[in-house]
Amino acid sequence: MSEAYEHLHRSVRSLADEDEAARIRRIRTDRWIGYARAEAALETLEDLLTFPKRTRMPNLLVVGPTNNGKTMIVEKFRRAHPVREATDAPDGTASMPVLKVQMPPGPDECRFFGAILDALGMPHAPHGRVAAKQDAALRVLRATGVRVLVIDELHNLLSGSVLQQRRLLNLLRWLGNELQIALVGVGTAEALRAIRSDDQLANRFEPFPLPLWIDDDGFRRLLSTLEAVLPLRRPSGLAESAMALRILAASEGVLGEIVSMVTKAAVLAISSGVEAITMRVLDGSGFVRPSERRRVAV
Ligand SMILES: Nc1ncnc2c1ncn2[C@@H]1O[C@H](COP(=O)(O)OP(=O)(O)OP(=O)(O)O)[C@@H](O)[C@H]1O
Ligand SMILES: [Mg+2]
Repeated sequence: MSEAYEHLHRSVRSLADEDEAARIRRIRTDRWIGYARAEAALETLEDLLTFPKRTRMPNLLVVGPTNNGKTMIVEKFRRAHPVREATDAPDGTASMPVLKVQMPPGPDECRFFGAILDALGMPHAPHGRVAAKQDAALRVLRATGVRVLVIDELHNLLSGSVLQQRRLLNLLRWLGNELQIALVGVGTAEALRAIRSDDQLANRFEPFPLPLWIDDDGFRRLLSTLEAVLPLRRPSGLAESAMALRILAASEGVLGEIVSMVTKAAVLAISSGVEAITMRVLDGSGFVRPSERRRVAV
């Protein structure tokens, strides 16, 4: 209790006195870690939301490798703009500024509109007619005032036939025009490839890359932030060169792996009583490099 825990964020200091089990539970709970690129993405998304309606709405494509924080960003954006129930609105209509759907695998118009209706909480017959689903989806999208439609896993487009891909790309273009809403695609480089196969879409979707992490100031700041929110009683110095380079190499520059590696190490730091992430703790935490993991997987 006497320690000031100066290595921790102010709001985390009091947690450092909790017992082992409580702290391990906290460490394992998902939390949002802010970093410059994500904050910039969120700002860009906010801009889309306030963009006045016009025939050519700007679209965004959040693109990056798998497990690198794309969904976390659009989820945070969606949470910041929750549904407003009809009873809370001055004009008595429910509103939903941001709608997020996933591009279904093997997509066609029917599945795509089905995904939109699911996200809107609208019941529909799985094998119902496309036209009926399209009408229903458009009606509700208009009625709830959706301004930004986020389509995660956009690379799933490519799992359809070339003809299907073309139809869906046309549909996206049409949807944006018809409703005058901004579209936000989220996906891997494959998604970018799919969008670029349609000239008219290509010049409407501004790519927002979330590249793999490299050893730069941003990476070191990310490690400092992580250290400050994990309630260990002693400082670890994660952002110091030797540690940082070790973490970067083992995580292969993927954000999800960085978070997972540091989290695993933090748990061991507590359960072993070391209370700091040291090189030995990193070695002992049982983290396996992603490429290694793929190799041993059967
Ligand atoms: N801002 C963040 N704060 C804390 N943890 C994060 C953050 N962004 C990503 N992570 C960690 O990385 C993991 C992967 O993130 P996310 O699911 O957003 O990746 P993705 O880019 O959408 O991957 P995929 O292309 O496979 O869907 C998360 O489960 C979380 O553990
Ligand atoms: Mg994702």
